Amino acid sequence: MHIHRLEKIWLTFGIAMLFVFLIVLGISAFAMGMDTPNSHEHHSFDPTKVSETPPFDNPGLIQTGDKSYEAVIIGYGFGYTPDEIEVPAGSTIVFKVTSSDVVHGFEIPGTNVNLMMIPGEVNQTSHTFNKPGEYLILCNEYCGVGHQMMASRLIVR
Ligand code: CUA
Repeated sequence: MHIHRLEKIWLTFGIAMLFVFLIVLGISAFAMGMDTPNSHEHHSFDPTKVSETPPFDNPGLIQTGDKSYEAVIIGYGFGYTPDEIEVPAGSTIVFKVTSSDVVHGFEIPGTNVNLMMIPGEVNQTSHTFNKPGEYLILCNEYCGVGHQMMASRLIVR
């Protein structure tokens, strides 16, 4: 079979690039220890024991300092526990979320808060709310027949 010279060059180039990419991936993963976020500090627990596992045994808003709060929130079909939170303007909230049944979403449109609520996993982010108002919290993962009704509010006064 005759292979054109340009095709040979192109094939060699393609195969060489494949190996270059695999080597780069291998070096970054195994030699440089690059990994997915959070994989070094595993925040996993038994998903059937949400209500017994701290901090989810006591969901709600906890004040951790002057204008700093921690919000421990559990998603379920089809709502959130607690179903509403209220903080003064200028507060920084650290959200710690999980789910007690299937995967749910925890999104506050207009902010960078957008977490997956995964059974048996703790996901976390924080945000400072400077503007008073009512913020919508909604589920952005299809989770069942009541998905479109799964929402709650964050009130910043
Ligand atoms: Cu919960 Cu969609």
